[in-house]
Amino acid sequence: MSVRHFLSLHDLNGDELRRIISRASELKAIQHRGDRHTPLPGKTLGMIFEKSSTRTRVSFEVGMAQLGGHALFLSPRDTQLGRGEPIEDTARVLSRMVDAVMIRTFAHTTLERFAAHSRVPVINGLSDDIHPCQLLADLQTYQEHRGDIRGRTVAWIGDGNNMCHSWINAAAQLDFKLRVACPEGYDPDARFVEAAAGHVEIVRDRLAAATDADLITTDVWASMGQEDEQAKRAAAFADYQVDATLMAKASKDAVFMHCLPAHRGEEVSAEVIDGPQSVVWDEAENRLHAQKALLEFLLDAYR
Ligand code: CP
Ligand code: NVA
Repeated sequence: MSVRHFLSLHDLNGDELRRIISRASELKAIQHRGDRHTPLPGKTLGMIFEKSSTRTRVSFEVGMAQLGGHALFLSPRDTQLGRGEPIEDTARVLSRMVDAVMIRTFAHTTLERFAAHSRVPVINGLSDDIHPCQLLADLQTYQEHRGDIRGRTVAWIGDGNNMCHSWINAAAQLDFKLRVACPEGYDPDARFVEAAAGHVEIVRDRLAAATDADLITTDVWASMGQEDEQAKRAAAFADYQVDATLMAKASKDAVFMHCLPAHRGEEVSAEVIDGPQSVVWDEAENRLHAQKALLEFLLDAYR
């Protein structure tokens, strides 16, 4: 059987995606009851981080421990990757030792090159293009708070970045409508928009995007790797804050999500992220449960 990778949400079909999201809620209940569930004894996950992380690192490491396995943090600074060993050779070597590999990197092609030479599943822990693990948690969070997302309206406010691209992928796969409000010049990549035709609409007015929406979400204005553009982006996105005025336009039981880390007073006001409609802490916790469900699935350990 060929190895399954998770470089994008599109590596799963809609049914598999739904199954993993529901399984994540089951694993959460098991964990909250204090029961042990260890289907991955002796299994190891290698984790390559070329960018910083709090949630992704901790959730994968703790997730593997809870499943009975082990995770290994690999920084390019301390491995031969940082001294120029080719990604293909690293893939050949690591995949003879570990059972799965998670990579957080810049160019998405790094993940593809690694996966092409890996004998074991490769998981995208964020690339410049997409952040599919975050979407597993976000979709789980919506389902737990409000039920099926099919047919709902999600408003993405801000940069057409890796998180926005992942929401676009999810809209096509789970059949909901996504309104993206972004300033000109910061649109999501047309490749993603075209592939999700009929599910995505780009607008310039943040309030129009939010009107009657069931879920409002945003992300930082300058992603990792764009630190030099911080000031320019702060000016471009000045009219794109998620604040109480915007939330008032949304459906009255709309929830607010943010993948975190957040910048209060920039992309979101403190009043919203710390307010009653915000589900960001559940969303962050669900990274753990959703990734455990993903690991079970990819390592064929669902039982
Ligand atoms: N949301 C997210 O991926 O957080 P980290 O960058 O802390 O992993
Ligand atoms: N768009 C952000 C997400 C961080 C989790 C980034 O890439 O930095």
